[in-house]
Amino acid sequence: MNLFHSNELNCQIHPNFLVTIKELIHIYFDRAHLTDRLQELPRQFEQPQPRKWARIDWQSINCALIIGIEPQLFLAIIQGAIDTEAPIRDYAHTSRQYLDPIQPLMAKFVGGSVDELGKSRPGIWELEERRHAPALVAIYQQLSGNKIQPNPKSARGYQPTNCVDNDLYRHGLARIATEYGAACLYLWLMGHTTGTLRQVLAEMLCDEINHLIKFWGFGIWLYPYPRGARFIYGCQQLLTRQSSGGNLFKTYQQMMSTLHWQQWTLRQRWQLVVTFYLVMQQLLSWHHRLTPTALEQIFGESPNRSIRTK
Ligand SMILES: [Fe+2]
Ligand SMILES: [Fe+2]
Repeated sequence: MNLFHSNELNCQIHPNFLVTIKELIHIYFDRAHLTDRLQELPRQFEQPQPRKWARIDWQSINCALIIGIEPQLFLAIIQGAIDTEAPIRDYAHTSRQYLDPIQPLMAKFVGGSVDELGKSRPGIWELEERRHAPALVAIYQQLSGNKIQPNPKSARGYQPTNCVDNDLYRHGLARIATEYGAACLYLWLMGHTTGTLRQVLAEMLCDEINHLIKFWGFGIWLYPYPRGARFIYGCQQLLTRQSSGGNLFKTYQQMMSTLHWQQWTLRQRWQLVVTFYLVMQQLLSWHHRLTPTALEQIFGESPNRSIRTK
């Protein structure tokens, strides 16, 4: 049985949100499952294949499937999520530029390729990501009866410095942070939904987890141990710089205001914070088991690239 597509699972909801979220983390962030997502990356380089979604009965989505959030607020959050999911084409293009000088295979996986005639082919990351905004638009329309158009913010373009490794490291951290943010949001929304509505969110969650794990694992293979100082330096750069990877605080702040955070109740805010915490706890427990040997078995010998920390 495919647990992720089980109808039974999509209907399970516990009156205590924390119990629901812990159950969902137990299923979707299962450590063996996360490792599988990473192990399939070399296969994806050879034979790119987007993850398949189960068939969705869109007509069965209705407001009765929302739990513990006012439908108006739920719609506002969905609208915000639509805007943060776009413009995927531009994000993919930027990532390809950061990756291309260092890891062309990963660049292709994320941002596709451009042939001599200038014709572009999307990468797997882009193919999987670009179904999210339309799925959210369909949810919005089904719940409200109104059509909605995405209102995307402009993507930060490629801003190289004189060190391609520093640029990629910072860009990679920013990508991981946004995949993590999206995964936590969809997980939190799953904790407030049931039935087909939860099923769609689960498909998006699985895509986000898939990307998060691939970027995370590949990143620590490319820039391996000892990683403490490098990671702290990268985060410092990410939290203080305005260019080349952006300011992470600002990105999260913008994301939360797009999601109409001001209208959330204290309880809902607290639940999201707890979701972020529990997911990170699970990710770190997976991370600590990811040894350099295990990574080299997946990707071969690490190029052990270095970044400047001065
Ligand atoms: Fe997404
Ligand atoms: Fe994503």
